[in-house]
Amino acid sequence: MRVAVLGCGTVGAQVVRLLREHGTDLAARAGGPLQLVGVAVRDAAAPRPPWVPTELLTTDAATLVRRADVVVELIGGIEPARTLALAALAGGASVVTGNKALLAAHAAELHGAAAAAGTDLYYEAAVAGAVPVVYALRESMAGDNVTTVLGIVNGTTNFILDEMATRGVGFEEALARAQELGYAEADPTADVDGHDAAAKAAILASLAFHTRVSIDDVPVEGIRAVTAEDIADARAAGYALKLLAVARRGTDGGARGISVRVAPTLLPLTHPLAAVHGAFNAVVVEAAAAGRLMFYGQGAGGAPTASAVLGDVVAAAAHRVHGGNAPRESTYAELPLLSPEQTLVRTQVQLGLADRPGTLAAVAGVYGRHGISIASARQGAAADGTARLTIVSHPASEAAVARAVADLAAEPSVREVRSVRPVEGE
Ligand code: NDP
Ligand code: HSE
Repeated sequence: MRVAVLGCGTVGAQVVRLLREHGTDLAARAGGPLQLVGVAVRDAAAPRPPWVPTELLTTDAATLVRRADVVVELIGGIEPARTLALAALAGGASVVTGNKALLAAHAAELHGAAAAAGTDLYYEAAVAGAVPVVYALRESMAGDNVTTVLGIVNGTTNFILDEMATRGVGFEEALARAQELGYAEADPTADVDGHDAAAKAAILASLAFHTRVSIDDVPVEGIRAVTAEDIADARAAGYALKLLAVARRGTDGGARGISVRVAPTLLPLTHPLAAVHGAFNAVVVEAAAAGRLMFYGQGAGGAPTASAVLGDVVAAAAHRVHGGNAPRESTYAELPLLSPEQTLVRTQVQLGLADRPGTLAAVAGVYGRHGISIASARQGAAADGTARLTIVSHPASEAAVARAVADLAAEPSVREVRSVRPVEGE
């Protein structure tokens, strides 16, 4: 089987290395030899690791995809990755990609092209790097009903929040350290603003709920506004603060539909996801019959991601030898996205309050007027006459919470709404 690798950066170079180092084993597992026929790059003269065969480098990816049985797309971004993947599928090649941005925006088109051509589209590396959660949802759990997916799916932001939590440093310093260690890109926007996690959330939700979810369906808040003080406050209240991707079937309120979001979220310190440190990823899946499952491991980096890519390459190659196909896209359930009125969420609100009689009653009154039940309230020491109040509510609709927060901000005794954060895992 002729294998073309498009992109020879962090991940592509490791795929080339492992293909060459483990070629014999991979051939035995796939049922036939895997021959690397070309490596497409943007700049053929740029320095490459020593194991990359320079004679196979090309800047003509469009021609390369026509000469391959399995095309591995590791360029990233939408174009030219989309056009190249579609051309490969239309030409009868199987496509393996780690490109979550592409999948989260163009899944229907790519799956349609694979189905029309009778070939495979695999994308294990697109979510949580080496962690086999795509396979788990796409195949292992196809017999169950998933109710909730909670994931730490971005290593860069988990590393940054962890640095802030353990070393008490600010966001900028933690980001600089993430860049120094090679976790964060020179332009870390997609990671810190949550777009990378949102793309992964869309892919996970699509698989979990047999419903097409695109990145545009995922409300997203990144971690730029999180302070070391927020994290310390959360910890004092018994919570970890994590950038969490949450996808849930809306059974709680009786509404039929799903909700998906990415936001800095509080988790009890006893929750398994609270123990996910550094650049690691983890996804918790809850399903009707299976109960709670957890998938954990390295979500980024060349070799871990290449491991997931090569698993897909072996599967796609084996199908070409023995017959069979990857599962088709499953969107039969077509569950609607729940509106903010239908989406229930537990919320922590932090307020700065005038430290005087009647203030607490006024705040509690706002909650009561909006039909939101308070689960706990904790007041910290006052400074300069401003007391800090942290309130956690029982599940209430996102819309009711938004209205209550607007009213709280307008209360004369409320000097500041410091943060509004979802709480999961209780
Ligand atoms: P890099 O930026 O390190 O590498 C991109 C590669 O694509 C480079 O070799 C570049 O060539 C090549 N390239 C860019 N444009 C073109 C083009 N027009 N034609 C041919 N080649 C081109 O990316 P990564 O390896 O980090 O990521 C690749 C994919 O894997 C992305 O979709 C990413 O989201 C995904 N992924 C990455 C992970 C990671 O930890 N890095 C983890 C999980 C998924 P040149 O070298 O000449 O510039
Ligand atoms: N930038 C991503 C992360 C790696 O930090 O997790 C690729 O998914």
